[in-house]
Amino acid sequence: MITALCPGSFDPITNGHVDIIERASRLFDRVLVTIFVNSSKSPWFTPEERVELARRSTAHLPNVIVDSYDGLLVEYARRHGVKVIIKGLRAVSDFEYEFQMAQINKHLAGDLETMFMMTRPENAYLSSSIVKELARYGVDPVGLVPEPVREALRARAAERRRR
Ligand code: PNS
Repeated sequence: MITALCPGSFDPITNGHVDIIERASRLFDRVLVTIFVNSSKSPWFTPEERVELARRSTAHLPNVIVDSYDGLLVEYARRHGVKVIIKGLRAVSDFEYEFQMAQINKHLAGDLETMFMMTRPENAYLSSSIVKELARYGVDPVGLVPEPVREALRARAAERRRR
């Protein structure tokens, strides 16, 4: 049984993430979608909220499990028997950061592979930051995020405006 890990901040999960998760779920026996803390980002959603949104957005995929972890990715992978990390690549601009992450994870855990999947062209411009930016200006990110995320973004943007 091969377990794959789709790690990320998922703040929030977008249709680009869901596409990669769906494709991974067809290739591997079990896919863990795990929300990690990215110390360089200040999130809109708590890890619990991000887990809930990711769960609702992947409920149609029976071999996908959503989880969260505040620690090193390689440590989590070891504990859960993960063989491969799956990451989506949108553009050349993603490459440098992802290459660095893959190298450091390889240094820390030599038997853990990182594999990249190219995003669909229609998702090439899509990111969690972009959908938050749209929501901040009152734009409904219809077609860019799963339905449960649309409402959560609208509500959180309104809350943030009131602060
Ligand atoms: O969606 P993102 O923000 O690009 O995902 C980055 C993430 C969360 C996968 C990365 O920051 C991560 O692996 N965080 C866990 C801590 C860790 O293992 N860092 C790498 C070694 S310094």
